[in-house]
Amino acid sequence: MAQKVNITTLAEMKRAGEKITMVTGYDYPFARLLDESGIDTILVGDSVGVVVAGYKDTLPVTVDEMIYHGRAVIRGTDRALVIIDLPFMSYQISIEDAKLQAGRIMKETGAGAVKLEGGVTMKETIRALVDIGIPVCGHIGLTPQAVNQLGGFKVQREKERLMQDAIAVAEAGAFALVIECVPSEIATEISQALDIPTIGIGAGNGCDGQVLVLHDMLSLFDRFRPSFVKQYANLGEETKKAMLEYSREVKAGIFPGDEHSFK
Ligand code: KIV
Repeated sequence: MAQKVNITTLAEMKRAGEKITMVTGYDYPFARLLDESGIDTILVGDSVGVVVAGYKDTLPVTVDEMIYHGRAVIRGTDRALVIIDLPFMSYQISIEDAKLQAGRIMKETGAGAVKLEGGVTMKETIRALVDIGIPVCGHIGLTPQAVNQLGGFKVQREKERLMQDAIAVAEAGAFALVIECVPSEIATEISQALDIPTIGIGAGNGCDGQVLVLHDMLSLFDRFRPSFVKQYANLGEETKKAMLEYSREVKAGIFPGDEHSFK
């Protein structure tokens, strides 16, 4: 088995100038495929609520749901670092809550880290989690749990605020920072200013790594596709083709043939 990726590995990758790959994963079969493909980190994102459960945003996702998906991903992963999102309202009310819920996620899944959204306002929360031994990945820019406050899924352009948020997350002891939907120039400047690795999504090529939502890049989710997503395969079309063929064969009495039947 290849050496397991941990938060120290990611720090070393940044120092060596080696780009970090992150993809979201929500279940056992895909976790196996991502891990066998050599993806460095699998994010069990609360995007599960949108691309798997069909909600309009990530707000309804619960800690129990994150634990369910996190456990499945952990079972399918040998090498990649698995990071699990703290869902909406599991860490915003109080630091005690954040410790309790992050602790549950770590304890009940075996994940290597958690991720939470927010910059300056989350500094104390991140510090409190790191102080009790829970590695935290930050997330700034477009923070989907705040979609109602942000007035929609929009590119975030306030350079000063973004830089302050990034520095706050790093100073609090986070091991990495996701930067979402931010102009390339700003994300590059933040990446150069921080010692911790930045992972961009819709944030250009100057970040230390990249993350995409699995179902977007494989075309398994067609309700909308942000312009920053590259489609690497069309598994949606492949699935439909397979189902049409199966349906045709069943209706024509072709499937199951002798080779798929017991004697
Ligand atoms: O939930 C998620 O998938 C995420 C990524 C978009 C970074 O937070």
